[in-house]
Amino acid sequence: MMENLKIDHADGVITISISRPEALNALNLKTLSELITVLQQTYQHADYRGIILTGDGEKAFVAGADIKELSALTHEQALAFAQNGQRLFKLIEDCPKPIIAAVNGYALGGGCELAMACHIRIASENARFGQPEVNLGIIPAYGGTQRLPQLVGRGKALELMMTGDMISATQAKDIGLVNHVVPHSDLMEFTNNMMRKILSKGPVAVANVIRSVNAGFSFEHPGYEAEAHNFAACTTTQDFREGTEAFVAKRQPQFKGE
Ligand code: COA
Repeated sequence: MMENLKIDHADGVITISISRPEALNALNLKTLSELITVLQQTYQHADYRGIILTGDGEKAFVAGADIKELSALTHEQALAFAQNGQRLFKLIEDCPKPIIAAVNGYALGGGCELAMACHIRIASENARFGQPEVNLGIIPAYGGTQRLPQLVGRGKALELMMTGDMISATQAKDIGLVNHVVPHSDLMEFTNNMMRKILSKGPVAVANVIRSVNAGFSFEHPGYEAEAHNFAACTTTQDFREGTEAFVAKRQPQFKGE
């Protein structure tokens, strides 16, 4: 029994709904460790053939890493936080069984990064995407600085990460961040149909498509290491303290560059 995940299993497909309604499904450490457990089980069981990842409720897929938990990290913990998340998201990306994100609402920060680690993204019309970490005085730390440019190109990725702007599902589709946009009421059916289609193909071939595509974007690339270290460095600044305090107090942050 998971605290922050709802899990449904039908005909070989596991649907995982991230469920922390009080925090718009933000990823805290408990949720990350539960996700790791489920993914490891899926890797091992022949009966589990594909995964759909979604957010519980109408409003959010995942509204980021848990800002309240983030704000308490030391430099060392921040580095471990980034490396841990990177490892989990790599597990998703490298899963030999198809993983589709059904993005049903806000996919911000770690939520956008989670969707990007999945093999395919289907968004509902109300979904919103963004990497708003700069609003807090930090940077994406779960692979976003690497996967966003891979999906949308360097220029758009830099704009999104430097402005922290949120974009609509349609804009996300226009830049290649999501594969399809569908009405909210059709999201799960559309996603399930795509999963069925993939599962009707040769599983060894599908696994090898994933493996081959990922080989071109190797994790050993120094960008991931740079991301984790640069994220940890940001967490030692006064600006980060100001950014998270301002978020909790629901006010605009005053950054000083120190
Ligand atoms: N971490 C922790 N708590 C979060 C959260 C996060 N990433 N995102 C939202 N929440 C909490 C809020 O603090 C609020 O809690 P409260 O009711 O105890 O005050 C609750 O979820 C609802 O959020 P709220 O901001 O009131 O909803 P909204 O509809 O006004 O705004 C968002 C929705 C998504 C635009 C806004 O919540 C937001 O900007 N979240 C942070 C996104 C972010 O920066 N993510 C990256 C983190 S690295």
